[in-house]
Amino acid sequence: MIVIEGRIFYNGSLTQGAVGIEDGKITDVKKVLRGDRNIDLGDRIILPGAVDPHVHFRDPGMTGKEDFVSGSTAALYGGVTCVLDMPNTKPPVTDARSLDDKKRTIKGRSFVDYGLFAALTKGCDVLSMAAKVAGFKLFMGSTTGDLLMNDPSDVHWSITAAARTGKRISIHAEDDSMIHRNEEKNNRDHLRNRPVSAEHNAISRLSPYKGMKVNICHITDAHSAALASSFGFTTEVTAHHLLFDDSVSDSGEYKVNPPLRDRKTKDALYKAFIDDKITMFGSDHAPHTIDEKQRIYNDAPSGIPGVETYVPMMMDMVKRGKITVQHLVKMSSAAPSQAFGIKKGMIKKGYDADIAVYDMRLSKRIRARELHSKASYTPYEGRDAIFPDMVIVNGNIQLKDGELCGDMTGRDMFE
Ligand code: DOR
Ligand code: ZN
Ligand code: ZN
Repeated sequence: MIVIEGRIFYNGSLTQGAVGIEDGKITDVKKVLRGDRNIDLGDRIILPGAVDPHVHFRDPGMTGKEDFVSGSTAALYGGVTCVLDMPNTKPPVTDARSLDDKKRTIKGRSFVDYGLFAALTKGCDVLSMAAKVAGFKLFMGSTTGDLLMNDPSDVHWSITAAARTGKRISIHAEDDSMIHRNEEKNNRDHLRNRPVSAEHNAISRLSPYKGMKVNICHITDAHSAALASSFGFTTEVTAHHLLFDDSVSDSGEYKVNPPLRDRKTKDALYKAFIDDKITMFGSDHAPHTIDEKQRIYNDAPSGIPGVETYVPMMMDMVKRGKITVQHLVKMSSAAPSQAFGIKKGMIKKGYDADIAVYDMRLSKRIRARELHSKASYTPYEGRDAIFPDMVIVNGNIQLKDGELCGDMTGRDMFE
């Protein structure tokens, strides 16, 4: 048994103690434990690893933008010990065969644990995929990939079929019929083409599915969040929608779907976040090449990278007293694990030994050149963050003294 000692996030607060780890699981949490090896972390903070329910690692098919090796390395350096990967890869994951092929491609190439989504498409065979996926993804608005399914009868059929499997359905909720396609020169034009009403309308249309296991991705608006919650849905929020509004810059680097909103909408979203009205973080890590992102705005693809930076930025906010560590752990670890039914996200006997250790003294500025995604840029350049100095995934020490030291032992959680 390995034992790590420090300030453990246990039962909702930080207490000095010891975590016992054996065969990839947490076997004990006590004031004092004696192991075959004891690692004393002093006053460093020991948190459950984060579970990112929304990444686009572009593998297979677009590995120039990212692949599972680079994406999972970035996740690890950001304290994320499990990622759920979206199906808009090439070919897209739409049936048992493309799912199995993707699993074969990725196997042995991840530093963190993972699960895959399958896309809901017309007439797809949900039953043949259900046991092997983290959940299903429905795109009600068009974006990267070609997986749009916004026709009311298709939406109805697919949600009903997928809900019967017991898996959660993550939805890109922008009603495509309300999206305009006028030429765009900047974020304001992009926002005009994709108004917040498109998000609101998409969620309103989901009222027949009240109480079903639906997750609204990348929520951008407090009213949308309230509506989704009133239907019993979980909600995800990204760092970019919390921290940026449409005035940030006119560069295509900030082009994303759903778009950055106006200042008022962003401020209300931030308040809803602070008031605990949103279920969880999801980075929506969506890397593209810097060349693509620096094209004229209209031709730049949508998507912002963020898997490596969202937890470290939030840790810095904890340090500054802007959010509590309880709120952070709930939104980054406990809630996503619970939503997708995996025994992670808590330091508790019987849970996977996924742990991230932070030294609260080690604030530093985010620098794109020090990050690990193939996207060689970050919209968070210069922001303060606290990166983990040790990360354990499934009992394996993958990162130590802030440096990668493990192997690609990440497991598919839905094999
Ligand atoms: O901006 C986005 N980029 N939004 C999405 O929904 C998809 C993502 C991507 O895959 O690039
Ligand atoms: Zn989306
Ligand atoms: Zn996405």
